[in-house]
Amino acid sequence: MRATWLTDIHLNFLKPLALKAFYERVRAAQPHILLVTGDIGESDSVVRFVTELGQIAPIYFVLGNHDYYRSSIAAVRGAMARLPTELTWLPAVGALKITPRTTLVGIDGWGDARCGDAASKVQLSDWQLIDDFRRGDRNATLERLGANEARALRSHLAAAPPSEHLVVLTHVPPFPEACIYDDVQSDDNWLPWFTCIATGNVLREHARAHPEQQITVLCGHSHGIGRFEAEPNLVVRTGGWPKGIEGYGNPVVQDTLEL
Ligand SMILES: [Fe+2]
Ligand SMILES: [Fe+2]
Repeated sequence: MRATWLTDIHLNFLKPLALKAFYERVRAAQPHILLVTGDIGESDSVVRFVTELGQIAPIYFVLGNHDYYRSSIAAVRGAMARLPTELTWLPAVGALKITPRTTLVGIDGWGDARCGDAASKVQLSDWQLIDDFRRGDRNATLERLGANEARALRSHLAAAPPSEHLVVLTHVPPFPEACIYDDVQSDDNWLPWFTCIATGNVLREHARAHPEQQITVLCGHSHGIGRFEAEPNLVVRTGGWPKGIEGYGNPVVQDTLEL
């Protein structure tokens, strides 16, 4: 099965002709399915974009922080739950056996303020543009969101059928070493908002308990391309912009995996 991976495509930045050209590039990869790891658009456009991508091939996706912009986490997730079944927001469905040897799971993930400098002066637009951050203690909110994502991942993994290969989609890199931009690991100012420690802990625990299973994590968010082997059977691939075409408005077809 050819699974074409997209991440951080931020399609809301594209004018109509560029959007059409991007869809043609996705189609040219001849995917049987699409795997999309978040930051697809914003709250008012993400349903439209997953619907259009779903016309190319069945789509399995998680959301990124930008997909919640100008709304709340609960409202956007409510909209995902109302999508038709061929547009699969993975957190709502748990583990899916997509080939005889491959199981797929997904959770959105959040930078959970549990590594790097928690007093970092780096400001994300999230704080203004997602309702959930407008009140309360921000770092406490992030820790709670990360813990919720970890709990959901643990429950999906516990219910997953045995399989040779587990593919995990998530938006936020689950380890600091997977948080890559411009070929280097993000520094302590970025790490609190760009790593989900809670989900990394669950993945490492699962990998150690299932040494016979190969686990591939696909993520994005830091917008750099990287590969980190967290355990002998746990590889995290971070997707982003190749050098030379950096910037919003130039989405790439990240890769096509044979599953
Ligand atoms: Fe992004
Ligand atoms: Fe992001």
